[in-house]
Amino acid sequence: MNVAAEFININKRFPSANYNALEDVSIEIQEGELVTILGTSGCGKTTLLKMVNRIFEPDSGEIKLFGKDIKEMDPVKLRRGIGYVIQQVGLFPHMTIYKNIATVPKILGWDKERIRTRVEELFQLVNLDAKEFKDRYPAQLSGGQQQRIGLVRALAADPSLMLLDEPFGAIDAINRENLQDELLRIHKESKKTFLFVTHDINEAFKLGNRVLIMDKGKVKQFQTPSEIIKNPADEFVQALIRSAGKHYYEYDGGGI
Ligand SMILES: Nc1ncnc2c1ncn2[C@@H]1O[C@H](COP(=O)(O)OP(=O)(O)OP(=O)(O)O)[C@@H](O)[C@H]1O
Ligand SMILES: [Mg+2]
Repeated sequence: MNVAAEFININKRFPSANYNALEDVSIEIQEGELVTILGTSGCGKTTLLKMVNRIFEPDSGEIKLFGKDIKEMDPVKLRRGIGYVIQQVGLFPHMTIYKNIATVPKILGWDKERIRTRVEELFQLVNLDAKEFKDRYPAQLSGGQQQRIGLVRALAADPSLMLLDEPFGAIDAINRENLQDELLRIHKESKKTFLFVTHDINEAFKLGNRVLIMDKGKVKQFQTPSEIIKNPADEFVQALIRSAGKHYYEYDGGGI
């Protein structure tokens, strides 16, 4: 199996912070994995994701995607090859749902027919009726529907890597479970690499084939859910597991 993403001794400190947002983070993610990144507010989850698409640059260390140092790559081109989904969805409000989904394929110069076929396929992927939704504007969709569109828009041009930053954070419990199940199915079918940030331990253990647990910028543990439960690395991880109210250990991620 190929390595999809490699973080080598990554450090990042923001001005006026009293601890590093990321401290000596070294991890390797294999192609096709669904890795969840779990930790309390401010532990560096978003910072870690934003290093991958070069919204932030590390103070020191190196990140490689599919063997290539991202510093050597043009940031705009790099981002076109990465799907990025955030909690606030970020759909373009003045564009129809169809145009939203078609954005990156269009930039990449796909012809109209190829885009049309792809958009139809993506609507089916998230169980939304294309006819019903394609000409609406984002404000005319529910939060859960917007989130589904945000997800397929990120998938539209078939990126090799997906970054998802608490994409279901603002969704009610029932819809959230459905979206999690859909995400697992989409991940399985796409065979792509997904990095999924959450502060919800149940979500992290349900979705991730491996879970990266962070605290104050440091990696505490990076293993499968069952390995973490059997052998929590330290008191912090133990406390985190105790805090979960559900039998998440029935899962061992949906990843690979
Ligand atoms: N642009 C920035 N400028 C200064 N400090 C920042 C910036 N972005 C993040 N930080 C700081 O870096 C640390 C890590 O932030 P980060 O956003 O990565 O946390 P997080 O784990 O994603 O938290 P949350 O769960 O609340 O989203 C925090 O202490 C935060 O205040
Ligand atoms: Mg965050």
